[in-house]
Amino acid sequence: MAEEIDNSSSSSNKDSLRNIFIIAIFLCLVCSVVVSGLAVSLKPMQQFNKELDQKKNILRAAGLLAAGSDVGADGRSVEEMFTDFSVRAVNLDTGEYTDAVDVDTYDPIRAATDSSVSMGLSDDADIATLGRRENISLVFIKTNDSGLDKVVIPVRGFGLWGTMYGYLALESDLSTIAGLGFYQHKETPGLGGEVDNPKWKQGWQGVQLFNQNGRPSVDLVKLRSPVQSEAARYEVDALSGATFTTRGVKNLVNFWAGDLGFGPFLEKLKAQQMQASVGGQH
Ligand SMILES: Cc1cc2nc3c(=O)[nH]c(=O)nc-3n(C[C@H](O)[C@H](O)[C@H](O)COP(=O)(O)O)c2cc1C
Repeated sequence: MAEEIDNSSSSSNKDSLRNIFIIAIFLCLVCSVVVSGLAVSLKPMQQFNKELDQKKNILRAAGLLAAGSDVGADGRSVEEMFTDFSVRAVNLDTGEYTDAVDVDTYDPIRAATDSSVSMGLSDDADIATLGRRENISLVFIKTNDSGLDKVVIPVRGFGLWGTMYGYLALESDLSTIAGLGFYQHKETPGLGGEVDNPKWKQGWQGVQLFNQNGRPSVDLVKLRSPVQSEAARYEVDALSGATFTTRGVKNLVNFWAGDLGFGPFLEKLKAQQMQASVGGQH
């Protein structure tokens, strides 16, 4: 009988409010240590995957990696193929390369939200509905044995439902489009979401970004001009049932090719290329 009383008093001790609180706090501490430990230890892996994803998107825009594939046509991995590229920071106002930022950690999209390193765009100039534009961006340059092979620039702009983020790749003449691909957007699947359709994306290859006066002139049209006409050189098919997304794509491509985008940089690079080819002939 005395033992029974003892047992019941020790079990009621165990269930006391104080013990419940101690156990709850202990469990919370253990869980938070485990969760924070996992978050810290997985961060490098997350960063690696983010960078790998960015490399894939750049290679895809440049037509070097098929959609859904993780290896190039020659069997090389994404990492191996990306060694052909150099990543450079560019001052968008001057069009010059700059060492003012670390290309490994610099985020142009984040910079565009910081008024000390970006500029506000007037309504007239802001055809891609960005609000602000970063002062420094990144370019991805692929060279081969004969020199410049491809240049890939990051592009973004508003569609119907939100900002579309992608890459535009140019051939070595710096006007012929090698490809365009979006890695993030909110457009409706089957309508604006057709920006991801490989068949539509193929239509960008070979299109001229600049007209004969050097102005960005890409046009997305419902009815194509005659094949031999000048206008046909700048035309890509509009997305059917997605007028807003179509307009957004046209505007964002022309914005980033223009004076407030990579226009000054592409002009400088073109001049350098010409000088090098003239120099090479002498
Ligand atoms: C649910 C829903 C989703 C839509 N998504 C898009 C879209 O992603 N992009 C777009 O341009 N239009 C979208 N639209 C259509 C537009 O509202 C508009 O009707 C269309 O852009 C007109 O294009 P059209 O002139 O080629 O027919 C959507 C409409 C609905 C009802």
